[in-house]
Amino acid sequence: SIIHVILTGGIGSRLWPLSRKSQPKQYLEIFENKSLFEITVDRNSYLANKVMVVGNVDNHHLSSKVMDKTKTSYVNIVEATPRNTAAAIAFAAFASNPDDILIVTPSDHIIDKMEDYNKAINQAVSKAEDGFIVTFGIIPTKPETGYGYIESKGDTVISFREKPNETTAKEFIAKGNFLWNSGMFCFKASVLLEELKQFQPNVYEKSKAVWEANKNGFLDLDLSLEIPSISIDYAVMERSKKIKVVPAAFSWSDLGSFESVYDYLVSNGHPIDKNGNMVIGSGKHTTFLGLKNTIFVYTDTANLILQKESSQDVKDIYSELEKIN
Ligand code: GDD
Ligand code: MG
Repeated sequence: SIIHVILTGGIGSRLWPLSRKSQPKQYLEIFENKSLFEITVDRNSYLANKVMVVGNVDNHHLSSKVMDKTKTSYVNIVEATPRNTAAAIAFAAFASNPDDILIVTPSDHIIDKMEDYNKAINQAVSKAEDGFIVTFGIIPTKPETGYGYIESKGDTVISFREKPNETTAKEFIAKGNFLWNSGMFCFKASVLLEELKQFQPNVYEKSKAVWEANKNGFLDLDLSLEIPSISIDYAVMERSKKIKVVPAAFSWSDLGSFESVYDYLVSNGHPIDKNGNMVIGSGKHTTFLGLKNTIFVYTDTANLILQKESSQDVKDIYSELEKIN
């Protein structure tokens, strides 16, 4: 079968205070009473014949609500604690048949141009059937350091480089044959597991043990904590020789930080003043004096004022404040 695997472990800490511990950003109903999580379910419902949701004990009730609302039957994989995407993806692969094709997606992206999206997924599925691990390449618009970069020629991946520093990212952009990694992947379950076993045997073994316990109804926190916390990008994508890339003609936006939210909102007509200042979450008149590229974020319980350039640092506030609550 073709299985849509939704990763929903993230807490969205860089979007505090929109994102709270009790309500990670992918569950906020921000578009016509739909959350990004629900939109992700909808988007892939025609492409796959089965759905798996991989999330943790703190958020799986939020996922269940959406799955009930959309009347989607699914396999619920609950993690005792987040151990990053290599483990989360391994769980989904262990829960599948070896020949199943998995389409792994985050739950917090915005994608437009559905016809192009469907086309890209279909291309990816056919490459995955041939034994490749498929990534989706986005044409980069700036030397973003929060993404993975795919050096490519046609569908061949020359190298995969996760989260380069700014100097390196600038070099990649200048070279011209680098794409951003979208964070979605498509592969045969057995192929991914073989690669993981080869490059990260410890992640493979520990995830397998946790999965076995899970299958028997045990959420083993101590055992889970033994899984090395590493993302699939570092664990497999940077090292495997079986990676292919499908260039993405669909439009893609990762609302990971206020900078990307800002860019997305601007391109959708959300107002900014002549100095690039923006208000999010309030209809009240707000005046910015002597400020440039400032974002004001209002919520019922907390406000944030930040310089757009400081977007990546918001996660520090989150870790300070949210663990107290
Ligand atoms: N179930 C589960 N468990 N999901 C997780 C876990 C976990 O422990 N950790 C992260 N996730 C989910 C997140 O919720 C998100 O949907 C997805 O996996 C990717 O994790 P992020 O933490 O958002 O990764 P990233 O944004 O730093 O980087 C990835 O995405 C970029 C594009 O958005 C990489 O794949 C980059 O290469 C890529 O450019
Ligand atoms: Mg992300």
